[in-house]
Amino acid sequence: MKKITVIGTGYVGLVSGACFAEIGNRVICCDVDQRKIDLLNRNEIPIYEPGLQEMVTRNKEQGRLLFTTEVGEAIEASDIVYIAVGTPMSETGEADMRYVMSAARKIGEHLNGHKIIVNKSTVPVGTGELVREVVQANKKYPWIGFDIVSNPEFLREGSALSDCMNMDRAIIGSDNPEAASVIEELHAPFKTKVFKTDLESAEMIKYAANTFLATKISFINAIANICEKVGADVEDVAAGMGLDSRIGGKFLQAGIGYGGSCFPKDTYALAHIADKAGYEFELLKSVIRTNQKQRFVIMDKLREALGGLAGKQVAVLGLAFKPNTDDMREAPSLSIIPELLKLGATVRAYDPIAAEAASKLLPGDVQYAASAEQAVAGSDACVILTEWADVVSMDLAQIRESMKVPVVIDGRNCFDTAEMERRGFIYYSIGRRP
Ligand code: UGA
Repeated sequence: MKKITVIGTGYVGLVSGACFAEIGNRVICCDVDQRKIDLLNRNEIPIYEPGLQEMVTRNKEQGRLLFTTEVGEAIEASDIVYIAVGTPMSETGEADMRYVMSAARKIGEHLNGHKIIVNKSTVPVGTGELVREVVQANKKYPWIGFDIVSNPEFLREGSALSDCMNMDRAIIGSDNPEAASVIEELHAPFKTKVFKTDLESAEMIKYAANTFLATKISFINAIANICEKVGADVEDVAAGMGLDSRIGGKFLQAGIGYGGSCFPKDTYALAHIADKAGYEFELLKSVIRTNQKQRFVIMDKLREALGGLAGKQVAVLGLAFKPNTDDMREAPSLSIIPELLKLGATVRAYDPIAAEAASKLLPGDVQYAASAEQAVAGSDACVILTEWADVVSMDLAQIRESMKVPVVIDGRNCFDTAEMERRGFIYYSIGRRP
């Protein structure tokens, strides 16, 4: 049993804290946001993540998981302190490091004995050393030592608990083998592969992994766009390519591009890190541009199907950046819906979980429906932006019947093209043969 404090109860901090408690450690999760901590102390989870509420409640009841705003006391009561605060994108595209630095100051001020300080936030290379300097400069007792470790997070929203409990690797970066061993020991119950390296390489692994995955997505989307022009089918192309084990079949799902809190932010951040280091990462810049353009292939297809959009009623199915989350950060719907409205369409949207979060970000004239079927009824076109299970399994016969014009623009390739045609839809998808 280890005594751990996790600073930051956002996505990463909360899930990691709960999972560390689940494998038998005593974990204090802390945050400066009183509202969040109050919610968590009432067993209410500020984010939507399947299974998290049960895990948090169970571990709280068994006394292994605590929530507090008393960050200093939490630091003093632990041997391992995880920094899991946000690193949002700043206006320049760089990661905003102010929360990481303020956590480091706080750790320095409350360093009452040797501690291992572990960075889980996605941070530019060199941050570990910066954290070391800040902790060192803020220490009250000069004789107390500490170690710095980088242990980046690889979980995906929507499947975060199983990603964490069944992680396929743990990356541990440190210049002190003893500190790295303690963090390796902490991961033993996860029965995972552990890869130990230096601090800077561990920090780089996280960016390299995310930007590589983003590259795979932009690559397959570019191939999809070409497939449409030359009469090939991107799904068969991806399946065939993926059979080469050097390529692998995963993350080759063509669509309207990546969104979310990670890929957009991390691709910009690495392009920036590279620029600053004197290397122009042209490939990555092109991945970013390809992704920005990809969401608007929807608009071209709509124009082709309907002519103009003025006075047309468009149903938008799915608002979150992907299924099983209410996260709206960098969701394609946030750029596509305002464009539809600008061109004179009326929009009725449906999302099973993210509608409330979306309504705070989208223009006020968007209407919201209680089901996919309701959103689609009477519409001139239906646009699918997120492949939610209840969108994929909607009653196609009913949908076809209730639409004024049976145009379906499927941004996530959810349906079989031949079946859609047989059912009488005018069906457009991404990179597939009609
Ligand atoms: C991503 C990574 O997958 C995690 O490993 C990483 O830990 C996380 O970022 C992070 O840095 O914290 P996440 O953003 O939750 O996780 O979501 P993904 O499931 O990776 O999907 C990202 C986006 O790519 C979504 O918009 C999804 O629709 C899109 N995508 C994904 C595609 O368009 N095609 C694909 O084949 C796969």
